[in-house]
Amino acid sequence: MTLANPSLQQMREELHVGEEFLARYNRPGPRYTSYPTAPVWNDAFGPDDLERVHEEAERARSPVSLYMHIPFCESLCLFCACNVIIQKDKNVAPPYLGVLKRELEHVSRSVSRKRPVVQFHWGGGTPTYLTPPQIEDLFGAARDHFTFAADAEVGIEVDPRVTSREHLETLRRLGFNRLSMGVQDFHPEVQKAINRIQPFELTRDLIFAARELGFDSINVDLIYGLPYQSPERFAHTVDQILQLAPDRVALFSYAHVPWLKKQQGSFAAHLPEGMQKFEIFRTGMLKFLEAGYLYIGMDHFAKPGDELATSQQNRTLHRNFQGYTTKAGADLYGMGVTAISGIQNAYAQNHRDLPSWERAVAGRGIATMRGYHLSDDDRLRRAVISRLLCHTIVVKAEISREFGIDFDRYFAEELRRLEPSRDDGLVLLESDQIRTTWLGRIFIRNLAMVFDPYLERQQLAAKPLFSKTL
Ligand SMILES: C[S@@+](CC[C@H](N)C(=O)[O-])C[C@H]1O[C@@H](n2cnc3c(N)ncnc32)[C@H](O)[C@@H]1O
Ligand code: SF4
Repeated sequence: MTLANPSLQQMREELHVGEEFLARYNRPGPRYTSYPTAPVWNDAFGPDDLERVHEEAERARSPVSLYMHIPFCESLCLFCACNVIIQKDKNVAPPYLGVLKRELEHVSRSVSRKRPVVQFHWGGGTPTYLTPPQIEDLFGAARDHFTFAADAEVGIEVDPRVTSREHLETLRRLGFNRLSMGVQDFHPEVQKAINRIQPFELTRDLIFAARELGFDSINVDLIYGLPYQSPERFAHTVDQILQLAPDRVALFSYAHVPWLKKQQGSFAAHLPEGMQKFEIFRTGMLKFLEAGYLYIGMDHFAKPGDELATSQQNRTLHRNFQGYTTKAGADLYGMGVTAISGIQNAYAQNHRDLPSWERAVAGRGIATMRGYHLSDDDRLRRAVISRLLCHTIVVKAEISREFGIDFDRYFAEELRRLEPSRDDGLVLLESDQIRTTWLGRIFIRNLAMVFDPYLERQQLAAKPLFSKTL
């Protein structure tokens, strides 16, 4: 038995918590798509810094991952915490694409044609807000400036409500092989409260069409903790999803951040909280496991044999801003408004408002608003947190060797701070490794937080920075 596939019985036994446990563990914490997290980055890091990092990556000849952010959506889902621009008038797309192509061209000057693009991801917002000819045009520009590996992972986020068969045909013809689609929940009352009416039949037809067209991998996003959800209602949604047999499922915890997204306040009185939210999650998780899916970690499930599951078992799984990936070692070049890059030992984020991003690209070719250079200590902690999140296990000797430290001595304080979690059944503190249990995998953010020294300062901020860990 491997950690990726423990017995259901074991999982059922471990997944029992009480109010008192939740009161201690369900607290604000980062999702660690980066370490250090974005609030630590600073605006002293600008485009010159990013260009120096580009040169470093070029010298390292690292493989390339490209991310394009298309921020537009036709209507606002009230739960949404993404960086979106709601715009019914589609005339905004052509000027946006013009600027994006200029940024793409500029970035490509720093990436030699010898470096293969192993991953190309379009996210948003809703990339299928664009028409099929616009998608084709943008994809062509990328192909003109970069060299794609024959087996590149080419993925896109699609909203079934605005995605046509013609969209899918165009995407497939261009070489997209992965689709990720938002569903969230099928219950009519939940859909009404979040302003997202998306009938089961619509989603089903899109998935069947995608399968027929030969997409390799189809992912579905669900959210637990939405207004008016209950374990029974959510069980029904999961049953419907199981009929569609997606290759992967993201079961996100609803992130309630009304200080950033005011519209979330509209349904605040109807949110399931505490034990109720945990029961909804538990119901969903058990159903996916009973159906044969494997739990990859941090909200993600995959069918056995899926490369996410295999690479977790081989301990080659990696995590970046798009979630889990098998493409470890690739440098991520993000383009578009708000897009984030993670290159060598640095992070950089583009301007978050459209006019600033447009002006910066027009003037300079790139639009860095803030960023961060990792110190040696950051790199070490990033490795520990990444191993916890991706492999569920940290082998002390590996970290000691890689960073020239004595793990137990360097992290003596952190190991001591993990003891209460050990006593609560989240983690096994062994002489040679740190190993998470089932419960620990659910509350993995809490375990990772022990290794994050920036949190203490962040917790003093006037407004909370992160959503809760459950
Ligand atoms: C960019 S959207 C997906 C593509 C497309 N726009 C759609 O909605 O179908 C990314 C995903 O983020 C998740 N998401 C957005 N806001 C969230 C929140 N407040 N809490 C948890 N997940 C959220 C949703 O599951 C959503 O499908
Ligand atoms: S969930 Fe998707 S479609 Fe809805 S507002 Fe957010 S990004 Fe747009």
